[in-house]
Amino acid sequence: MSEITSEEIDAVCNLVSDLCGICWDESKSYLIEPRLGSLLEQANCENYKDFTRKVRAELVPGLKEQVIDAVTTNETLWFRDESPFEALRHKVIPELIDDKGTSMYPKRFRVWSAACSTGQEPYSIAMAFADTISDIESWDIQILGTDISPSAVEHASQGIYNELEIGRGMDSSHLMKHFVNRGKDRQVNEKIRSMCRFEQRNLHDSMAGLGPFDIIFCRNVAIYFSPEDQKKLFDSLASVLTPNGWIFVGSSESLTRQGPQWQAQQHCRSNCYRPNMEVQNA
Ligand SMILES: C[S@@+](CC[C@H](N)C(=O)[O-])C[C@H]1O[C@@H](n2cnc3c(N)ncnc32)[C@H](O)[C@@H]1O
Repeated sequence: MSEITSEEIDAVCNLVSDLCGICWDESKSYLIEPRLGSLLEQANCENYKDFTRKVRAELVPGLKEQVIDAVTTNETLWFRDESPFEALRHKVIPELIDDKGTSMYPKRFRVWSAACSTGQEPYSIAMAFADTISDIESWDIQILGTDISPSAVEHASQGIYNELEIGRGMDSSHLMKHFVNRGKDRQVNEKIRSMCRFEQRNLHDSMAGLGPFDIIFCRNVAIYFSPEDQKKLFDSLASVLTPNGWIFVGSSESLTRQGPQWQAQQHCRSNCYRPNMEVQNA
C-alpha cells in the first residue's frame, strides 16, 4: 500500500476523536497501519479517507465497533498497582461503613469501574470487598464496569481468563478462593460475579441517570483524552459521586490540575481524591 497522506492521517485522527474522544495526531500516525490496516482491506477501501467515510456512514455492519476495539488500548491486570486495593481494604471501605452506619442503606455500596477494560479491575474491587467484609453475602454491593470497547465488555461479562491473563497480578490465595476451572482457563466464581455487571459506555456521553457512586475507579483512561475533555470528564464524574465518595485515578494521573474541587487523600501511596466540601458548599 502507498504511503498514508497527511489528509488521510487527519481523517483517521478525527474519526478516532469523534468515536472515542481519544486524542490521536500526526505523532500517532505509526499506529494507523498496524491497528486499522486489516479492517481497511476487509472493508475493500482504497485509502483511509474512503475508510473513514464508510465507518461514519455505517455502511459495513459492525465496522464502527471493530474500529473502536482496534484503536483502544485494553492493557490491564489484576490488583493493578496494588496500593488502590490496599487503600480500599484498610481505609476506604471501613470509613464508608462507619459513615453509612446511620444512613438509610447502611449495607449498600455502589461502585463504578469506568473504563474497566476486560474486567480485571472491577473483579479485583469485588475481591477487595470480599477480603474486608466477612458476611459479604448479606450486603448489597453493586460494581458497575463500563468500557467503550465492545469486545472488552464481552470478555469482562464472561469473566473467563487464560493462563497468561491470570499470571498478570493474580495471587494464589485469591485464585483458590474466587475462581472455578473452565478447561485450561479460569472463570471468576458466582459470588464475585454476582456483585458485578457490565455495560458498553463512552465516557464522553452524558452520565445522567448513573450513580450516585460511593467509589469510582477511573484509571489509566483520561491520559488518552485532551486536557479539555479530561476536565469535562472529571466534572461529570463529580456529579455522580456521593459527597463523601472516593475517586481513584491511575498512578501517573493527578486531579490537582482539575481545580480545588478535589482533595488529594494520602493512603498506601494510592492516587485517590474526595470532593472538597468547602468548595462544593461555597
Ligand atoms: C489502559 S485501559 C485501563 C483499564 C483499567 N482501568 C486499568 O487501569 O487497568 C484503558 C481502557 O479505556 C477504554 N476507553 C478508551 N476510551 C474510552 C472512552 N471514551 N469511554 C470509555 N472507555 C474508554 C479502553 O477501551 C480501555 O479498555
